[in-house]
Amino acid sequence: MTRTTTTAAAAAAATTTQTEGERAPRIGVMVCSTRKPRACPQIAKFIIDTIRHPAGASEDQIPRAKEADATLHLVDLEEWSLPLFDESGVPSQILDPTQYDHEHTRRWSAEISSYDAFIFVTPQYNWGYPASLKNAIDYLYHEWKGKPAMIVTYGGHGGGKCGAQLRQVLEGIHMVPTSQNVELSFGGKGMTIHAAQGKDLGLENGTGTGTGLWGGVERERIAEMYGELIDLLALAPKLDH
Ligand SMILES: Cc1cc2nc3c(=O)[nH]c(=O)nc-3n(C[C@H](O)[C@H](O)[C@H](O)COP(=O)(O)O)c2cc1C
Repeated sequence: MTRTTTTAAAAAAATTTQTEGERAPRIGVMVCSTRKPRACPQIAKFIIDTIRHPAGASEDQIPRAKEADATLHLVDLEEWSLPLFDESGVPSQILDPTQYDHEHTRRWSAEISSYDAFIFVTPQYNWGYPASLKNAIDYLYHEWKGKPAMIVTYGGHGGGKCGAQLRQVLEGIHMVPTSQNVELSFGGKGMTIHAAQGKDLGLENGTGTGTGLWGGVERERIAEMYGELIDLLALAPKLDH
């Protein structure tokens, strides 16, 4: 079975488990860098484009991957601008969001509760993931718990070290990560500096031709892990919201 077929099969599985009137699962695509300038938004867009136009997918597979799996929604931590964690309670002990001290926490809780799964798109900073992401995670617990997660890291060498750390934390809050992370490498100092300046990386424009940076095996890996995410979604308990 090819990787794209796996995605299509997952899409079909997700479709058949969806009954009439039931909404499509919602996936939050987390934009985890809050720098100005930053590379993260164009990389998150590249992930969404790749999911909607999987590498090697035939014309009849594309609409299934696009519409049947789930709806994708950007969650930009820069826009959320959460203060450094300032709740008095331990989130794992809070079952009712009205018990949070602050309005920003209640709003963040409602946002994260509205998604069934997540794709974390994060840079590597000094061998770790950004403080903004850890801060955003630590605000909540039950809102994340039990939900499938796909980890996409990027950096000079792909961000493997931050991906491993993030995986450990997500498992600590009982999220369910896909079997492997997606690692996107800038492949050298020149492109890493270019990225840090928020300049155009020449990523795929959504046509599915796979000619730009990360146009080959990376697109296949994204499609493969997205297929797993959809499989995990089909197994996860249905959320009532
Ligand atoms: C504080 C900081 C630390 C960094 N540390 C690493 C690192 O450990 N490994 C790496 O490959 N790239 C590192 N980089 C380079 C980033 O991969 C690159 O700047 C990228 O554009 C950051 O993502 P962003 O622009 O979306 O914030 C670092 C960049 C910054 C700003």
